[in-house]
This record gives sequence, structure tokens and C-alpha cells, in this order.
Amino acid sequence: RDCLKIMKCPHHISFSLSLSDWCYQSQFTCAQECNGPDKWNHANSACAGKSQSPINVVTRKTLKDERLTPFEFTNYQQIFRGTIKNNGHSVQVAVPHLSTISGGGLPSTYKAVQFHLHWGINGGPGSEHTIDGEQYPMEVPYQSFKKKKGSVLAICVHLSSSSSFFFVSNSANRKYDSIVSALRAIKNTNANTSLPPTSLAQLIPPEHNLTSFYRYRGSLTTPGCIEAVVWTLFENPIPLSFDQLRAFSELKFRDGKPMVGTFRPVQPLNGRQVYRSGGAVLLVSSNLLMAALATALGLSRLY
Ligand SMILES: *[C@@H]1O[C@H](CO)[C@@H](O)[C@H](O)[C@H]1NC(C)=O
Ligand SMILES: *[C@@H]1O[C@H](CO)[C@@H](O)[C@H](O)[C@H]1NC(C)=O
Repeated sequence: RDCLKIMKCPHHISFSLSLSDWCYQSQFTCAQECNGPDKWNHANSACAGKSQSPINVVTRKTLKDERLTPFEFTNYQQIFRGTIKNNGHSVQVAVPHLSTISGGGLPSTYKAVQFHLHWGINGGPGSEHTIDGEQYPMEVPYQSFKKKKGSVLAICVHLSSSSSFFFVSNSANRKYDSIVSALRAIKNTNANTSLPPTSLAQLIPPEHNLTSFYRYRGSLTTPGCIEAVVWTLFENPIPLSFDQLRAFSELKFRDGKPMVGTFRPVQPLNGRQVYRSGGAVLLVSSNLLMAALATALGLSRLY
């Protein structure tokens, strides 16, 4: 634990980091050093870029943007037989490319590709993005991409990542049973199993609950950290019971240790503006609210 705080161990060695050779801060120990988030830029200079993700959203600094209209999902009802896989860093589900997302102020139509999850330890804080400093127990970014022909040599890939957060609820969310049950079969790295027939509509909240969101431009949150992602952070979190959240901590990293703390620390905004849709509620921090109440009651001297 102490070692984690120091991060830099005495015998510092230089190394070259390959795309698969990276770890989360939770995996770093002095006995077994690995290439944590502060070293991702050794192999991918993009990881030290100026528009990295995740970020902390300070809601009172967000700018309301009327162009952030509701999303349009197509083929989200379609039943598919997906594969869920432990890829050594997370669990990932490939989804059929037939589903698309547009609207929501997105520059074009994006095809769904995959989703994966980020979580903490036994249901503790684990989301990548934070809202006014609050880290949710889990975050699921749905990644979609748009292929655009760039130069003759390059095909640029533009990504759209739409994240929902989770909150701890008293009862289990039956819509997530199939995912949670599948975890038992993929405890080890590279294990995969097929999911029972499911649809994206089953896993994400209904469209009318996705009208409140934040928008900014950022990056992938794992190496290579490419800065070509339009991020959407939905305000309404998805409920999961504590036991359902805890099941994710049973998974194992490549080295057999519990797969926990699978999130990158928040990155500097570097002057980027975060926008909010018309529906997003501007949260007044409780401190400000208390101050306002106190002033109204003539108690301001107490604060
Ligand atoms: C799932 O695992 C099987 C057996 O180990 C393997 O042949 C297959 O390629 C894997 N599928 C994916 C999508 O990783
Ligand atoms: C949709 O949002 C409403 C109001 O915030 C909430 O009560 C309801 O549980 C949400 N439904 C789902 C399925 O997320």
C-alpha cells in the first residue's frame, strides 16, 4: 500500500512498452512492477497528449448546448448472440455492427462495435469518469466507430464512446443477470463464453432516460490513448445490486490476481470545454447549497 503511493521504485529501469504490456495502478507493486498509467506514454506518446480521457466533469463549468438533442438508436432491439471475454484488462462484449447511434449532436452515424466495463474493488469506486469528484462503482462505455477514408495510406477511425454509470441498488438488476452469470466462466485471462441471446436495448436505459448527458472530446482510456473520441456521459445511472457489482472482482488479471481497480486516473482538461444537453441537471454542490441556505437564514457567520 505504501509502495503504491510512492509509485517510483528505487531501481528504476527503462523499458519499451508494447501495446499489450501495460497495467492499471491497482496492479502495481514494488515486488512486481508493471507499466502503470504514468508510464503508458513510454510506448504511446499519445497517452501524454493534451486531450486525454477520462476526466472529472465539474457540472457548474459545463456549457448548455442546444445542439445536444436526443440520440437515435437503430437496431438496438435486435437480439444477438455475443461473446463475452476476459481480455486481461477488462471484460469485453463484441456487438453486431448492425446497431447504430446518431443524433445527440454527434457529427455522423456510428456503428456499435463493443462495450467493456470499468470497476473498483468489491463494489467500491470504479468508474473512469467522475462527476463533481464522485466516482461511481462502475462505468460501461459503448464504443462505436465511423470509418473515414483519410489519405491514400491511412484510414482514420473516429470513435464515439457513450458511457453509462452504475449505482448500488437494493435489488438485483435482472437485465444484467446474463452478463453477471457469464463472469463465472471467464475468470481467467483470455477465457471467453457466449452470452444468451440479448439485445443492446436490454442493457442500456430506455431512450427517454438518455436525454441528459455531458459531451466532450477526448481519447481512448487505454494505450494507445488515441485522441479521436467523442465522449458522451449519460447522467442517469443504471442500478446493480452490491452482489452483482462484487461479482466483477472475482475475475482475474493475467497474473492471477483479482481484476479490480480497472480504471485510468482522471486526466487534465487542458482548457477543453464540457457541454451538457438541455436535459442535464446542473447540480449545485451541497456546500454551495448549504451556504445559500445559511445566508437565507441569516446564519452565514457560522460558515
Ligand atoms: C474463445 O475461446 C476459444 C477456445 O479457447 C477460441 O478458439 C476462440 O477463438 C475464442 N473466441 C474469441 C472471440 O476470443
Ligand atoms: C428512468 O428515469 C426515471 C427518472 O429518473 C427513473 O425513475 C427510472 O428508474 C429510469 N428507468 C430506467 C430503466 O433507468
